[in-house]
Amino acid sequence: MKEEVMKKIMAWYQENQRPLPWREDTNPYHVWISEVMLQQTRIEAVIRYYHRFMKELPTIKDLANVEDEKLMKLWEGLGYYTRARNLKKAAIQVMERFAGEFPNTYEEILSLPGIGEYTASAIASICFHEQQATIDGNVLRVYTRVQNDERNIAEEKTKKDIRKNLMKTLPKDAGTFNQGIMELGEVICIPKGSPKCEICPIQKDCTGYQKDTYQFLPKKEMNRGKKEENYTVLVFEKEGHLALEKRGAGLLEGLWQFPNISGHLSEKKIKSYLKEKAIAHQNFKKGPSYVHIFTHKKWNITSYIIPVENEFTPYTWVSLEDLEKNYALPSAFQPIKIAYQKGTRENEKKCRNFNLSV
Ligand code: ADE
Repeated sequence: MKEEVMKKIMAWYQENQRPLPWREDTNPYHVWISEVMLQQTRIEAVIRYYHRFMKELPTIKDLANVEDEKLMKLWEGLGYYTRARNLKKAAIQVMERFAGEFPNTYEEILSLPGIGEYTASAIASICFHEQQATIDGNVLRVYTRVQNDERNIAEEKTKKDIRKNLMKTLPKDAGTFNQGIMELGEVICIPKGSPKCEICPIQKDCTGYQKDTYQFLPKKEMNRGKKEENYTVLVFEKEGHLALEKRGAGLLEGLWQFPNISGHLSEKKIKSYLKEKAIAHQNFKKGPSYVHIFTHKKWNITSYIIPVENEFTPYTWVSLEDLEKNYALPSAFQPIKIAYQKGTRENEKKCRNFNLSV
């Protein structure tokens, strides 16, 4: 990308950047946490998570010492919980290997657990003025449109080459450029729909705009389908308390979940399952069915809400309020919690109406 185009992006960013809480200073802890959160969800959602995180864990030392349960609760809903665990691991290393001072070079930052090229480049350039280019979806979109680059951005080779090209002409203040190109991708050169070319500061420099190809860029061709898994979730309920269990090793390890069985079970099958396990229950009903998508797999979920006679082992029985406050429930199970909550509220309303009429 031409140096003059990069300068225009920087000038635009300096005038137009959104005031975000992690832009108030260049404390690497602030930049680090916000960048990792931004890899998970939209900016508006990150703001809330970020404020709560910094209120609870204002320093790297606090993060290094946080209890896992509390960390998971702070991360609840953001998904990809390994990232949160790696934050703590990296904080411990900052305390031990770097005497509590966040390392100030790209290579050292990259050596911390869970920190990849993107995050290391962002921190090194924004906080320590190192000339490193960040590559994320926004950068790839702006770059391929400006350059009319039709290569497949799903391929590592393309991403590596784009980074190499950006590094060649990267301005001295790489941090401002990196933030500027990402911001441009987020507010002007937006995906699909209609990018706001009419107010884009580099419209005249954009080959994709001149050739009218920008709508088809970037090219992203994935060749791997997501692996699908089917689950039946059993929401055992006893007087407003729900059965939970902690997930074992593997995906979402250590988080809480409603008990579940592999496969999609019919009502008849559920009845015989309950009989076989000697679970005394009342009439049960179907809960929500939905698909939850992870990076590499897809869960097709069906569920049943089953009132039971007794709280039984090996589960932990918790009220909705307790669940809300103290148990980290992955997004994959949230629709069930919400449906149960809604059902309970509607039921209460019915009872109130009934009381009124008697
Ligand atoms: N998106 C993710 N990180 C960003 C940053 N530092 N500036 C602008 N947009 C971003």
